[in-house]
Amino acid sequence: MNNSSDPYEKLALIYDTIASSDKKDLKRMQERTEREIESLNILLKKRGINLSKSVVVDIGGGTGRIAFPLSLLSKKVILAEPSEQMLEKAKKNSLLIQHGDIEFRQEGFLDLSVPEETADVVISFCDAFLYLHQIKEQIAALEKIKTTLKPRGFILIDVTNHFSNIKRYKVPEPSFWQTNQFKVSYYLSHEVLAFKGIWKVIENFSLKNIETKEIEHFDAVHHLKMVSSTELILLFEKVGFNKIELYPGYNIREEDGNRIWIIAQKKDV
Ligand SMILES: C[S@@+](CC[C@H](N)C(=O)[O-])C[C@H]1O[C@@H](n2cnc3c(N)ncnc32)[C@H](O)[C@@H]1O
Repeated sequence: MNNSSDPYEKLALIYDTIASSDKKDLKRMQERTEREIESLNILLKKRGINLSKSVVVDIGGGTGRIAFPLSLLSKKVILAEPSEQMLEKAKKNSLLIQHGDIEFRQEGFLDLSVPEETADVVISFCDAFLYLHQIKEQIAALEKIKTTLKPRGFILIDVTNHFSNIKRYKVPEPSFWQTNQFKVSYYLSHEVLAFKGIWKVIENFSLKNIETKEIEHFDAVHHLKMVSSTELILLFEKVGFNKIELYPGYNIREEDGNRIWIIAQKKDV
């Protein structure tokens, strides 16, 4: 992790419900996931990739939001996730959620050790790539992905387009919701660390345990590198990917703002 403390250490406990906190409605998050997988499938099909014959590596796969449903369509999914707590939650989720062949690995972009030329497709959803702050780290990550991919395999990265979202920024409302275990109060705020090009996300949680009535407060602070579409294209070109295509205004739900999807192919060597 690039930050002094791992924001996901405690967040893992509640991550699967937080993503839907805006409308307290898990169904909306499930719909988002379904649309992301459908779009991924369409983009891959267009490029001649048949998921059912493909090994997919999901880097920064978190608690398996994408990996579980995707594994039902793929030959195999390898979920690589550096946070011990997020990976533990993914393993717990695997006992509850329907899935296909999944392998869990506690590793991230920079220490990925999936054997060379294993993957037909590498994906990374929901900003995992933005935890890499230095250009040399971003390049090292793409080099590793290239090694992991089979020749002519594809990479798809999904990140927030923070530059575009600044223009439409609204201060978020606090939200409150309930899980099986907790009553949650959630306050979200943001800062732009302009000189460093960092979008700082500050999440304040208060969790009241429904059984014991105990209350726990914690913060999860994320430092996300702001990257533009142009920077991403240049990075992919530098590392030597082919057929780089960009979907810069990709917008799954209005409230998620603009995202960038970038897809590219490993050269046939
Ligand atoms: C917002 S979560 C997204 C999780 C999942 N991809 C999803 O769409 O639900 C971002 C994830 O990036 C992971 N992450 C942070 N630094 C990383 C790194 N250096 N390499 C890979 N993943 C990283 C975090 O642990 C976290 O699970």
